[in-house]
Formats: sequence, C-alpha cells, structure tokens
Amino acid sequence: MLTVRAPATSANLGSGFDVFGVALGTPADVVRVERAPETRISVIGAGSQYIPEDPNQNTVGAVADALDAPAHIKIDKGVRPSSGLGSSAASAAAAAVALNALYDRGLSREELVPVAAEGEALVSGEAHADNVAPSLLGGFTIVTDDGVTQVDASIPVVACLPEMSVSTRDARGVVPDSATLEDVVDTVGNAATLAVGMTRDDPALVGRGMEDAIVTPERTALIDGYAQVRDAALEAGATGVTVSGAGPGILAVCHRRDQAAIASTMIDTFDAVGIESRAYQTRIG
Ligand code: HSE
Repeated sequence: MLTVRAPATSANLGSGFDVFGVALGTPADVVRVERAPETRISVIGAGSQYIPEDPNQNTVGAVADALDAPAHIKIDKGVRPSSGLGSSAASAAAAAVALNALYDRGLSREELVPVAAEGEALVSGEAHADNVAPSLLGGFTIVTDDGVTQVDASIPVVACLPEMSVSTRDARGVVPDSATLEDVVDTVGNAATLAVGMTRDDPALVGRGMEDAIVTPERTALIDGYAQVRDAALEAGATGVTVSGAGPGILAVCHRRDQAAIASTMIDTFDAVGIESRAYQTRIG
C-alpha cells in the first residue's frame, strides 16, 4: 500500500488563462494504492458523493490506464469538486505519483504531467495541464504546448470557496472566441509582470499582474457576489483578486499581515449576499 498527498491548485491567475498555475499548501487530496488485477476506486471526503467510482468515469481511472497500472485506489478528497481549486487534478496527480512508484514505471514528475492530464481530459473534455503541473511540481508553473516551466515561489493567498458549483465545462462555455489587440497587449504585460513577481516572491507585482480583461469578466458573472467579495478583499489589503481556475473559488493574493482580515471579510461578504463559504489561508508554494 502506497500513500501520496497532492495539493489543491489555482489555475489562470487572471492573465495566464490555460497557462499559469500555482500549488496551494491546503487543501489536498490523499490517494492510497495497492496492486490489483483490475482497477477499483473508492472515494471519501469533501464532495465524494458527486464523484463517480467507475474507473471509466473517474479521473484516476484514466491515469491508471495511461500507466497500465491496475490497482485498488482509495481517494480521500480534501479538495471539493467543482470548486476551482483543481479537485480532479489533485486526485490525478496523487494517483500518477503513487501508481508510478507502485509499478516502478520510473517516470519523473515532469513526465507524469501529461499522464495526469489524461484524467483532466475525462473530466473537462480537454487535457489541461495547468492544474496537474503545479500539483505535481509545486510552486508556480507555466504550461505551453512546448512543455512546462516551473519556479519555486512563496506568496500568501486566501482561497475562498463559496457553497455553489460552477462546472469547468460551463465556465469554458463563456470564454470569448476572440479579443481586441488592446486587451491582448494589456494581458501580455500583466502576465509578464505576474511571472516576474513570482520569481521575486512579491505579492504586489503578482497581484497587479493578475488583471485580465478577456476571460475573467465573463466568468465572474457566473459567481454570485463576486464583485462585492473582490472589493471587500481589496479593501482589506489584497494586492490582487481573481477567479480561481474555472471558479467559483476566488483567489486573493496578499501580504501575510493582511491574510486573516482578508479571509474574514471574504466570508462575511459572501454571507451578506446569502452564500456560505470557507476560506483557506495558505501559500503558493
Ligand atoms: N484553465 C482552466 C480553465 C482550468 O480555466 O478553464 C480548469 O482546468
């Protein structure tokens, strides 16, 4: 029996749609694997009632297939599904690491990125690696068609999770097909600023670089209370606020000294619009 923990992640960070991702310290999924003649999956924990245990429909079943590594796989969900915090990616990443070790496949963490992304394809219809890459590699990751670039980073964040679901498929449905050159130029500038901020562990630069006028405005419309929660977090000292992944999670970047106040105000502001939420005070890392 082998046990592996893989962390929640936040993709996009506003300006890096389908490219940027970060690992968060908490929450996390824990996956246990044991060799077996055929794959069987059981799921407990956060939102487990919504996760199919059929290996043909579970992200982890796709990973077991890709590694030709049948196993009894027990998933303990810390990352709620449809949260925007890379729930399926955390399970896929943990399973990829565990099954790779269980069957001595000898793949590196980098080589496991496309393997774990197979699981993402099953859930969202496309093999995005922007959540599995940071879950496997940690820190800040930049995923392009040519591969993954990873840098270590340590930045305080609050990840606030309202009690509502937004499916990745729905959130992808509102992404515009095109953008003006002006918006593209702004977004490139912001993404570059953000990447430099990560290398300097600078919450001010990262927060500024999260601005995005192309995808984020369309998605915030799917999250009741978003504008109020964003404004409250900025008022409490957040250096930047954006939708986490496909939502409905909201990510606020900040200095350590402001973290607790930002978490409280985000919860209170959701509460004021009749939505329960919880906030993880954690770090990119
Ligand atoms: N980049 C993806 C999205 C993250 O925002 O749709 C979810 O896989």
